[in-house]
Amino acid sequence: MKIPKRHKQYRLFSFLLFLNFHLITIHANAVELDVPYVETPPELVEVMMEIAKVNADDYVIDLGTGDGRIAIAAAERGATGMGIDLDPVLIAKANQNAIEAGVSDKLQFIEQDLFETDLSQATVITLFLNEEVNLKLRPALLKLKPGTRIVSHMFAMGDWRPLRYQQALMNNNGNFYIHEVFYWEVPGN
Ligand SMILES: C[S@@+](CC[C@H](N)C(=O)[O-])C[C@H]1O[C@@H](n2cnc3c(N)ncnc32)[C@H](O)[C@@H]1O
Repeated sequence: MKIPKRHKQYRLFSFLLFLNFHLITIHANAVELDVPYVETPPELVEVMMEIAKVNADDYVIDLGTGDGRIAIAAAERGATGMGIDLDPVLIAKANQNAIEAGVSDKLQFIEQDLFETDLSQATVITLFLNEEVNLKLRPALLKLKPGTRIVSHMFAMGDWRPLRYQQALMNNNGNFYIHEVFYWEVPGN
């Protein structure tokens, strides 16, 4: 029996929809994230770099790196470092972005759980996670070398009072949002 052309097109469309749905499901199942992917606006990345005074002497560890924008901004200021994320698609994107920015020799992007990451080499830790995850990380952060700088977009660290705090008003398609940046240093023993 001859199948009409529009039925063939419909069957192809249904198949592609089925494939797309299953690929998305497989991807979503493959990584169980503590925090969903949301981007830090570029202007805020700059505020984070400024507040933490990131420079060429730094080794920056960006936890939950996403597309690598914070680690890349640090490398553009001369720092070396690494970005950690559980999502392999974002890790691939971060690597590509670092190549395009001309800083891939300064950075490593690793697909890994941030809670299983060795932070001991860091002079700066950058975060855009959530307060619960920040609090879970806090004991490990407090064990780092005294003076290690920590900068977090949007989320605090419970009763650990930041040394610096900055607000910035961001315009997203006519909607204005207040973003916050928190800065701490690991205290001496
Ligand atoms: C809010 S996004 C921040 C992305 C990027 N740092 C930025 O500011 O634009 C949080 C990121 O953390 C990652 N993530 C969530 N849970 C994680 C975990 N346990 N280990 C590593 N990365 C994780 C997500 O995949 C996501 O890319």
